[in-house]
Amino acid sequence: MVIMDSHRVGESEGLTFYIARPKDYDDVIAISQDIYEGNDYLPHRYHFWMTEPDRLVFIARRGSKLVALESSLIVDGGETVVVEGLRVCPSERGCGLAGVIQRFVDGYLKKTYPKLKKKRITRQNVPGAENMANFTFLARRAILSLHGNSESIDDFVTYLMAKLDSSDGSNTRHPLETGQIKQNALMPVLLDPDLPSRLQLPGGAIIQDWQPLKIIESNFEILARQNLSWFVDGFTEKPLFMSFHTPPYPIPLNGGSVRLNIDMFGTDVSLAKRALTAHLNTVKGEIKCGVVIHIFMHQSLWEDLRQFCEGHDGVKQWREYWEQLFLERDI
Ligand SMILES: CC(C)(COP(=O)(O)OP(=O)(O)OC[C@H]1O[C@@H](n2cnc3c(N)ncnc32)[C@H](O)[C@@H]1OP(=O)(O)O)[C@@H](O)C(=O)NCCC(=O)NCCS
Repeated sequence: MVIMDSHRVGESEGLTFYIARPKDYDDVIAISQDIYEGNDYLPHRYHFWMTEPDRLVFIARRGSKLVALESSLIVDGGETVVVEGLRVCPSERGCGLAGVIQRFVDGYLKKTYPKLKKKRITRQNVPGAENMANFTFLARRAILSLHGNSESIDDFVTYLMAKLDSSDGSNTRHPLETGQIKQNALMPVLLDPDLPSRLQLPGGAIIQDWQPLKIIESNFEILARQNLSWFVDGFTEKPLFMSFHTPPYPIPLNGGSVRLNIDMFGTDVSLAKRALTAHLNTVKGEIKCGVVIHIFMHQSLWEDLRQFCEGHDGVKQWREYWEQLFLERDI
């Protein structure tokens, strides 16, 4: 008897491809042990991805062994696919498998979504990544990474507030006046055609936790799914600075830590310091263990923010300067 597997979507170059299911979780985690120095988001996101509209998570098996995964999120009203989660099992890396799964997925998506025009990825900058074959380089962002724990984070926020007070003088606003804004109040702010140039948005997009989205109405629902906390500079419709964080989520680091991502848009250093302080002040009560904080920003801000954060006993820089790249190609 032949058992038909409805999740099987094809074969190519010795691999069989499937749409991943919740029950594949253990196999996916088994190939993910060493990824991103313990900062992998996939153990936390996997089950959410299984339920997300317009997301297809592909896995490749050689026989019964899971050897690769790639996730595709269809955005921009069906015109763009955002690729996330790409990984190959450690024993098969360096043999071209990432290319095999990407070629298969591209072909499958083109058939399934005829309107699809572009493929977008974000990735860590490593030598050669900017010139990755067939991709156009759109933008880069700097990343400042810090590490602390539940005992130190509260004191760190107090430390930053004191630094703000002493450096900004008395004629500027209090740091926490950087206002938290509700998703629906954001619409006019985001749809302002001046926004990409005013905030120097990377490639004209919002990138949240490595996911790049053009600012068009059909993408707002995708942003809303992430339960983001937004801050803007004041409550005007033309802010000079905008930032948000995803709720801290568990990662494998040191046997169990959380990760906090803060994505910043704009180039004003003083607003960036206020925004960082405001984000940390909002989440400090939720942190009950070790935390890695990744702050994504315009390159021009990195050194000032590094200096702003240095000098505290409990919260320390976790990595040297590193960058996120935003790349695109036709599909
Ligand atoms: C990065 C990783 C997926 C590469 O897989 P691999 O099979 O060893 O890749 P190879 O070096 O053999 O390269 C094969 C192809 O994949 C492409 N590729 C490699 N890394 C890539 C990346 N990060 N994003 C997109 N494509 C990538 C190469 O350009 C090459 O394409 P081609 O065949 O069309 O020329 C793998 O090393 C891995 O799982 N690392 C840990 C997780 C990780 O860092 N993922 C990166 C997410 S951006």
